[in-house]
Amino acid sequence: MGNPGGKMDPLTPTLSSPGARIRSADGFRAAKAAGAKIVMVTAYDAWSARLLADTPVDCLLVGDSAMMVVHGEKDTLGATPEIMALHTRAVSRGSGDLFVVADMPFLSARRGESHALDCAAALLRAGAHAVKIEGARGHLHVIRHLVESGIPVMGHLGLTPQWVRELGGFKVQARAPEEAAMLKEDAAALEDAGAFAVVLECIPQALAREVSLSLSVPTIGIGAGPGCDGQVLVLQDLLGLNPGFRPRFSRRFADGTALFRDGAQSFATAVREGSFPLETEGF
Ligand code: KIV
Repeated sequence: MGNPGGKMDPLTPTLSSPGARIRSADGFRAAKAAGAKIVMVTAYDAWSARLLADTPVDCLLVGDSAMMVVHGEKDTLGATPEIMALHTRAVSRGSGDLFVVADMPFLSARRGESHALDCAAALLRAGAHAVKIEGARGHLHVIRHLVESGIPVMGHLGLTPQWVRELGGFKVQARAPEEAAMLKEDAAALEDAGAFAVVLECIPQALAREVSLSLSVPTIGIGAGPGCDGQVLVLQDLLGLNPGFRPRFSRRFADGTALFRDGAQSFATAVREGSFPLETEGF
C-alpha cells in the first residue's frame, strides 16, 4: 500500500479529493488547524476499502464493530487481536494511500503495556497506520507508552461499546454534569498522553462542541452533533445496507438495500428465464 506515514506534507492534495488527503497522524492536527472537517468511514474488507480509496473520504476505521456488522454478533466483545489483524490486513490490501486506523479489541489495553504493544504491533504489521483505544481511565499509561513507542493512538470516549456490560446497553453517555466533567477531564488527559484525535460517541452535542473547542487535536463524532471536527459512520449504515438499524444519529446517504435486492433479483430472473448467460458471456 501507499505510505501515508512517509515524510511528506501531512495534507497532500489528491485527484479524488480536491482538498487534501490526510497522510499521517500529524495530518489530523493540521486538518483541525486548517478548519477542514475530517471524514472517517469504517471498512472491514479489501473490496470496500478499494472502492473507498477512490472517494474523497479521509481515512478508514477497521472498527471492532466488524463483530456486529460482519459477524452478526450482538456486541463487539468477541473481537480478538487475531480477528482485528485479519480485517486490517484485508482493508490494507485495498485502501491504497488512505490512512487506516484499526481498533484495539476488548481488554487489549487493560493487560499492561507489553500486551498492548504486541497487539498494536500486530495491527500495524497488518497495515494499520494507527490504533484506536476505547476509554482512558486506568490505561492512560498504556496509551502514553504506545505513543512513545511510535504508535499513533486515536482515543474514543463517550459510548465506548467495549464497556457495554457496565453501561447497561448502547446508550447516550455523559448527560449528568459529573459524567460530563469526567469526560472533559478524560479528553484533556488523552491529548496530554499523546492521542492525535479523539472519537466522541453518543454524547450531548453541547458537550461535544465544548470538548472540541478545548482540544488542539481533532474530535471525530458519531452521535455527537455538528460541533465535532469530523464525523465517522459505519459504511453499511451510511449506504443503507443495514435495513433493520435506524439510529437517530445516522443517516442513509444511499439506498444500498434496494440496489442489492434489485441486483440479486435481476440475476435470478435472468438465470430462470434463460437470458443469462449469453453465448458472448461464455467461452
Ligand atoms: O468500531 C467502530 O466502528 C467504532 C466507530 C463506531 C467509532 O468504534
